[in-house]
This record gives sequence, C-alpha cells and structure tokens, in this order.
Amino acid sequence: MTRDRIFLSPPHMGGRELEYVHAAFAANFIAPAGPQLAAFEQAFRELTGFAHCLAVSSGTAAMHLALRLLGVGPGDVVMASTLTFIGSVTPVTFLGADLHFVDSDRASWNMDPRLLAEAIDAEEAAGRRVAAVIPTDLYGQCSDYDAIRSVCEPRGIPLVIDAAEAVGATYKGRPAGRGGDAAVYSFNGNKIITTSGGGMLAGDDGAFIQEARRLSQQARDPAPHYEHTTLGYNYRMSNVSAAIGLGQLEMLDGFVARRREISAWYEAALADLPVSFMPEAAYGRSNRWLTVMLLDPAFGATPEDLRLALEAENIESRPVWKPMHLQPVFAGVPVTGGAVGEDLFARGICLPSGTALTGEDLERIAAVARSVAA
Ligand SMILES: Cc1ncc(COP(=O)(O)O)c(C=O)c1O
Repeated sequence: MTRDRIFLSPPHMGGRELEYVHAAFAANFIAPAGPQLAAFEQAFRELTGFAHCLAVSSGTAAMHLALRLLGVGPGDVVMASTLTFIGSVTPVTFLGADLHFVDSDRASWNMDPRLLAEAIDAEEAAGRRVAAVIPTDLYGQCSDYDAIRSVCEPRGIPLVIDAAEAVGATYKGRPAGRGGDAAVYSFNGNKIITTSGGGMLAGDDGAFIQEARRLSQQARDPAPHYEHTTLGYNYRMSNVSAAIGLGQLEMLDGFVARRREISAWYEAALADLPVSFMPEAAYGRSNRWLTVMLLDPAFGATPEDLRLALEAENIESRPVWKPMHLQPVFAGVPVTGGAVGEDLFARGICLPSGTALTGEDLERIAAVARSVAA
C-alpha cells in the first residue's frame, strides 16, 4: 500500500484565510483591487517596516518592476547571487541587461560581499555600469545586508534584496528585506506563506512604489479613456489572493517557529550520520523555509540516491538550487568564484519542511535517510 505523499513545502491553510476570501466574495471584489488587497499591503508594511508595499502577481514580477524603475537596460550589468532560483534573475534579461553572478560564502551560503566587491571592480574597470545588485536570502536566511551595502553604497549602486524565501526571517533584528533600496518577496504556493501565487515589492521611496503601481496596471495615464505614454504590465495581485495572504500573515510567527523546530528536529535526529546542515549566520534568525542537508563522502550515497529512495517512499525532496552559472541558458555569463555554489549543489538536498508535517512524517523521512547511509 502506498503511503500518503509527503510534499517538500505544501501550502498550509489554517487561519482565517477562508473567512477573508468569503468577505471578498460577499462584497464582489473579485478583481485586482479591493479592501483585502489594501489590507494585505498595510499588514505587510507593518511586518517589514517599509513605508510602501505593492502586491503583485509574483515575486518575479516584483523584481521586474524594481529593476525597470532603477533604469536597468541594455549595456548595464546586474550582479546577482549564483545560488538562487531563476525567477530572481530573469527580469535582468527581460530588460536587455547583462548578468554577472557572484558566489556564496560558506558561513551563510549567501552572496559573498568580498567577491561582490571584486566583481564590481572588474566590471567597472572594463568601463561598464553596474546598475543594481541582487543578493538572494537563500532558503530563508538573510544575506549580510550591512556588508553588502557597504560595498554598494560608496559606489552608488542600488541594492534590491531578493527576500522571496525569507518572509518572517530577521537580520540584526530587522525584518528580512530591510537592508536595501527595495525588497522583493514571493507568496508562491511553496513559500512559508502563500497567496496561491503572488509577490510584493517594498520600499521607502513613495514615488518609486507609486510608479511601480502604475506600471503594474498597464501604465495608464490619468484620463477617462485609456491613454498610455509608456508600456506597463498586468502584474497586480488579485483581491481574492490577497484575502488568502491576510489569513496567512496571521499565521506567520507560528509558521517560522514550526519550520525552525522541524529543522532542529532533523539536526538532532540525524546527528550521528556523516551529514551537516545549512548554518545559521550569527547576525540573524532564519525562517528555515527549507531544511537543507549536506552529505559527506562517508554518507556513502549521493543526494540523488537519497532523493530517489525518498521518492520510492512517496516523499518529495529536491536538490539544492543548481547555480545560475551552471545553467545552460546562462552559458557564457561571467561568475566571480563559483566553487562554493557548485559544492553545495553537488552535496545538498532539501528535505520536506512544510509546517503541517507531523512527528510521524518526520520519523518516516529520517528512517529513509538512515537506510540509505552506509
Ligand atoms: C529566491 C527566489 N527568487 C525569486 C522567486 C520568484 O518568485 P515567484 O515564484 O513568486 O515569481 C523565488 C521563488 O519562487 C525564489 O525562491
């Protein structure tokens, strides 16, 4: 008999999501406008401390808007983490600019500020304009914002934090994303909170977010008819999705606590195996969106062996993000460093980390890891 499937990070409803969705239906706000959308943006301002938030259809859309408004375009270079999900960097290409990838450091698995400085200096020495830096807060752990900022600020380069995976995490006590000129978040179905699909662009510059709002709604100029002097996008979040988000936000503290508990459970339960886990940087508190385990050679099996063994037991797991500089679509894109990301990709596996996991589920997963270890 096949046992129930354990997913990597499934949506977890449980608060007042349906109540807020009913309220949206009752008032017939089934549109990319409405009171739940406004309330969701307000609640996110309170969570992050940013003065302005714009809810959009995805994290990728939020990044696209941020970079477009920073004037990123053909001839420019944008620095980005190589160890990330592709949605972090495709907007750079959409805008016709060039990428330059930067490797992670071992302590946080996030963008190495020293390599970033080296990469910028090399591009600027070659006469190129570095138009933005995008560090990813990997698997729910904030990048070292202050160190990265101290590289960007003196050079006048804007910093857009990709906090897609880090909602609810903190950096030196500050909410994830609060360290750059703008921040991007994702509420994709697999994230720590979800709106079924969606994203947020946040910043303190009101004019910047106001213009992003205009571009997210097809850049309509004020006129009774449809008047356009520039091209925009259809990127606004639906009011129904925002209603789900409102309920999810109320669950966030509990979700962070549960993800951290799950991570600690794996570390303790598998402590005797030749494995290690993603370190938590001293400067912050990760939301532990996904628990990531590294297999030492003594484990006697590869991450793919373990993934297949888990799959045979109807358990979903996933390799660490394949670094962007190894992606065929980015062949020829420069990278500074690269060995750390490559090593983490070769040895890492993301374990099921959903907040609804039971103790029995965790035992089932640990038993497979044990059975595969030499
Ligand atoms: C690091 C990172 N950046 C960007 C994104 C893109 O977000 P979305 O899927 O909402 O477009 C994701 C996840 O999906 C992500 O993990």
